[in-house]
Amino acid sequence: MIANTHHRHLLERITSRTAHIGVIGLGYVGLPLAVEFARQGFKVSGFDVDESKTSQINAGRSYIPDVPEKELAEVVKAGRLRGTSRMSELADMDVIDICVPTPLRKTKDPDLSYVVKAVEAVAATLKRGQLVILESTTYPGTTDEVVQPMLEAQGLKADEEFFLAFSPERVDPGNQKFNTRNIPKVVGGLGKASTDVAGALYESTVDTVVRVSSTRVAEMVKLLENTFRAVNIGMVNELALMCHKMDIDVWEVIEAAKTKPFGFMPFYPGPGLGGHCIPIDPHYLSWKARQHGFECRFIELAGHVNSSMPHYVVERVAEALNTTKKPINGSRVHILGVAYKRDVNDMRESPALDIIELLGKRGADISYSDPWVPELRTDGHMLKAVDFGQAVTGCPDCVVICTDHSVFTYDELVKSGVVIVDTRNALKDRQAPNIFRL
Ligand SMILES: NC(=O)c1ccc[n+]([C@@H]2O[C@H](COP(=O)([O-])OP(=O)(O)OC[C@H]3O[C@@H](n4cnc5c(N)ncnc54)[C@H](O)[C@@H]3O)[C@@H](O)[C@H]2O)c1
Repeated sequence: MIANTHHRHLLERITSRTAHIGVIGLGYVGLPLAVEFARQGFKVSGFDVDESKTSQINAGRSYIPDVPEKELAEVVKAGRLRGTSRMSELADMDVIDICVPTPLRKTKDPDLSYVVKAVEAVAATLKRGQLVILESTTYPGTTDEVVQPMLEAQGLKADEEFFLAFSPERVDPGNQKFNTRNIPKVVGGLGKASTDVAGALYESTVDTVVRVSSTRVAEMVKLLENTFRAVNIGMVNELALMCHKMDIDVWEVIEAAKTKPFGFMPFYPGPGLGGHCIPIDPHYLSWKARQHGFECRFIELAGHVNSSMPHYVVERVAEALNTTKKPINGSRVHILGVAYKRDVNDMRESPALDIIELLGKRGADISYSDPWVPELRTDGHMLKAVDFGQAVTGCPDCVVICTDHSVFTYDELVKSGVVIVDTRNALKDRQAPNIFRL
């Protein structure tokens, strides 16, 4: 009966858009979500331990490329979004959405410390009728084994006196077609009441909601999606190595294969995995599976192939320089694009960092260009980006295309005759003796 009252009350607040929503963690995931809730008419408080982020939000400034400043400024001005670092204000929220990082430890075990810290803050002010949703990518069992006991330790019962759900975030930074609003949202609650209120919340904000039977299914959905990518990228990376040995153009093979209208989906080789998802999430799954005595062989194998790609790129640089009778040692190597993927500023786990470090260890003199990343720290020292045009006229010994940002144009580079190692097929359809494709 108590559950029914809280449930009904929260549903009313959600459908009338009077629910006050708190989003914890205002990064690549949390900020777009907070802005979207606010655009749909909710009052939103964004919580972050990083005060530079909350003050930028309050000044109407966006620091996430996917969040247009105009949209952010509009909801801030209308009083529907504000940033704060005062976690005690969580007490005033009807809904709390947790979007904090879930990295790996050095041992490749899950690091849930950010989630635990955020949940401690929620627990400290938990009140009857609140809905708590975890969005951070994590292993199946996190919501019911870690979050639920921490919250219930306050004396309230989940799915009766407060509601608890998991809903994986699927946002793809830099994607021009799919955003928070039009990416279907999977949601699984601890019980029926939790799924119901969490489903209603997302239905008020995103186009399509997919309800699943439990938090564990929802957690596993996200790991299936990202493991699927990691394994397929691993497979195609291995194919690229194989094709090089057999003197076959792997890119041409993929282009032709993808003309099959069913049963095939193209994945592309590259310099290695990057970002906060694909290199990390499968390890969350294999760690949890190991606790159940299960070994995830596909994940391990794909991880092995993918993490060897920066080494392979360096070998290809050595091969390419060799055609001009130069060793890596002492050669000036220019890296084009260092962010982990096209048109984003995210450097997390970027394979360019490994490539720079490996080339540096072999004595290369490294420079780089990336309009999205003005400076970077590698192997203990800072590098500043140089203008791409100037880098080409400065005649480096080799240019490595690591990230094919759409602003890059390659005509001058190819014409200059410099040795180019192209890890992204950015020079598709161009044939020249100075181009070495992955
Ligand atoms: N980036 C992506 O493309 C993407 C896509 C889907 C899912 N995810 C998942 O979403 C989660 C968040 O990723 P992200 O890329 O947004 O991370 P991020 O590092 O961009 O943002 C996380 C934010 O949380 C803040 N934070 C950390 N601990 C906090 C605490 N205790 N209280 C308040 N704020 C805190 C940080 O200051 C930071 O601003 C991760 O689990 C990630 O795997 C990320």
